[in-house]
Amino acid sequence: MQTLMNKRVLLGVTGGIAAYKSAELIRRLQDQGAQVRVVMTRASTEFITPLTLQALSQHPVHTELLDAETESAMGHIELARWADLVLVAPATTNFIAQIAGGHGSDLLTTLCLAAECPLAIAPAMNQAMWGNASTQQNCNLLTQRGIRLFGPAEGLQACGEEGSGRLLDVDAIVTQTRELFDTGILAGKHVVITAGPTREAIDPVRFISNHSSGKQGYALATAALEAGAKVTLITGPTSIAPPERANTIGVTSASEMFDAVQRSLEEADIFIGVAAVADYRPVNVSEQKIKKSAAPSNSSVTLELVENPDIIQSVANQDHRPFTIGFAAETDNVIEHAKNKLVSKNLDMIVANDVSETEFGFNSDQNHTTVLWPNRSEELPAMSKAAISSRIIELVAETIGENNG
Ligand code: C5P
Repeated sequence: MQTLMNKRVLLGVTGGIAAYKSAELIRRLQDQGAQVRVVMTRASTEFITPLTLQALSQHPVHTELLDAETESAMGHIELARWADLVLVAPATTNFIAQIAGGHGSDLLTTLCLAAECPLAIAPAMNQAMWGNASTQQNCNLLTQRGIRLFGPAEGLQACGEEGSGRLLDVDAIVTQTRELFDTGILAGKHVVITAGPTREAIDPVRFISNHSSGKQGYALATAALEAGAKVTLITGPTSIAPPERANTIGVTSASEMFDAVQRSLEEADIFIGVAAVADYRPVNVSEQKIKKSAAPSNSSVTLELVENPDIIQSVANQDHRPFTIGFAAETDNVIEHAKNKLVSKNLDMIVANDVSETEFGFNSDQNHTTVLWPNRSEELPAMSKAAISSRIIELVAETIGENNG
């Protein structure tokens, strides 16, 4: 079971002997489904080469803050935005002091200041350095600021001494990384999510569909799982793997999706309609492939379409309805259209996004959204679909809590 599916981990490596363990750490994080990018301090490149970590992470390793070439490709702000977690392992006492002091003296420290995602630090140093009052004070300061400390562990050190200060075992770092994403805020809840496009058959080889990739719906399923929910994911055809812990039901057409949703609703506490359901389907589906020659040359062909059932509306209008959240992908008057859908479909919340911004939306890994309730709204800054999903799940849990309280 991959527990870090699609999580973007920015691994910071600083200059201690334990830096060689970062190679293994990259592999173990990837085994759990994480995407890993690496930033190294200059000192760490004395212990392990950027080439090694580049080969393992399959991405260029970043070392310099003021490098015009890398800044134009993926600069420190983009890297900070890209990450769902910045994990610094191993972290030297110098790095810890820099962060405690709020310094941005190189790429890694600057990036830690710019990152809005969680920051976790796995210290590794000589036991006396770890025990030093200034290191301890700095670590207390970091913990107070919400920065997570992984370890250190106790045992024999590279310098031959025994004590506390060893880098935590790679497997334990991976476990703590996963736990950091687990919130439990939807523990005991059953969440049903629709995702991806639907395909409406014209004949055995052709269909009408759309550009939905399924990424946002799958990211929400992952976020709901991390929140401790049981998740049923009803998905149209996509080219990405669904989260393993979800109960995934594959469908093709809107009618199939409608039926699968009805069957899974009985125990549902929350319904999230992320699927880009085709609004119309052909009235007649030809049993044979329609031949071009059937029509005289230069003539046009007319396809008669009939409206598909509105899945989310049918869910929201049931007697014992689950808490219902819709998505509105719009190209114009985004907020106004989303508000109208919230009301007309009888939803509890709707997430609006502007799909005319080509860097966001359907096929992109980023999204820029506004969440609307019947009486208020909240704009979320542009961020990864995973980070947006975690925020949406938090907002769902908060709203359900308010409604019940
Ligand atoms: O009307 P529109 O398709 O823009 O509404 C978007 C929302 O409605 C999404 O949450 C989508 O999953 C849901 N929807 C649905 N069934 C349809 C059409 C849309 O569940 N037939």
